[in-house]
Amino acid sequence: MKKDFLSLADWSRDDLLAIFDLTAELKAKQKRGEEHRLLAGKTLGMIFEKSSTRTRVSFEVGMYQLGGHALFLSSGTTQIGRGEPIKDTARVMARYVDGIMIRTFSQEGVEELARWSDVPVINGLTDMYHPCQVMADLFTVIEHKGEAWSGLTYCWIGDGNNMANSWINAAAVFGFELKVATPDGYRPDARVMERARGMGARITYTADPAEAARGAHVLNTDVWASMGQEAEQKERAAAFKGYQINSGLLKLADPKCVVMHCLPAHRDEEITDEVIEGPHSIVFDEAENRLHVQKAIMATLMR
Ligand code: CP
Ligand code: NVA
Repeated sequence: MKKDFLSLADWSRDDLLAIFDLTAELKAKQKRGEEHRLLAGKTLGMIFEKSSTRTRVSFEVGMYQLGGHALFLSSGTTQIGRGEPIKDTARVMARYVDGIMIRTFSQEGVEELARWSDVPVINGLTDMYHPCQVMADLFTVIEHKGEAWSGLTYCWIGDGNNMANSWINAAAVFGFELKVATPDGYRPDARVMERARGMGARITYTADPAEAARGAHVLNTDVWASMGQEAEQKERAAAFKGYQINSGLLKLADPKCVVMHCLPAHRDEEITDEVIEGPHSIVFDEAENRLHVQKAIMATLMR
């Protein structure tokens, strides 16, 4: 099994399925109020170079529920923000903590951290991927649909960003059909797409959101400007016009479709308020499942 959780494409289907099994077990125990101190006495260091609500709270609460402790480390108040090399940070942190979760810009930086760290490293979002979110999302689909792969068609509408890239990896590992609709200039990363297709993924690209949504069982979107792209907000809003999940688009999808968004959402931009508050939306279940899935990931890596 891998030491780190950096990208879904690094993991085997069987190992990820084992994480879902453990997630179900830990979630049930949490709901019943049964103790499950799988990481008693262990510490997670959480490095944040970008903002967060869900990731920070769910990792910290998750560690507490597993009997361990989590430390919040922002780049602005540690030596990381003053340029201490990643390889030094990694080796020092690994002498104190039992696992590191990092949210940052560069995927290469996270990979370097993992290379130099003797303890497991978990990717809490980079510009390239958001694997913990997509694990939570798949677990949520399993809960709502009974399973998340064989009979289901997924679509991604909007920006070809870190979330889109992680969905592409998931399609490669689990084999479900994925239709991606983005404006031409905002396609997902070409290397990620190529690697996924090389793994046999059933992924199609279109610039037409209606084509992607037609018959889909799971509709997914995310903000048009991700963290770090704030200056492009206006230009992006123009480019993504027409790539909104709204009631018109939902009419084309499977009548029992579910609508997902990792949050935070910009209502009435990438998704309407009506849809996010409507009966197809499972966005708050996704948010809750961050907690349960990440507990299973931490227990798998850090036990
Ligand atoms: N979905 C997600 O990762 O949310 P945060 O940015 O609040 O952590
Ligand atoms: N694509 C978004 C996801 C936020 C959880 C971003 O990177 O800002």
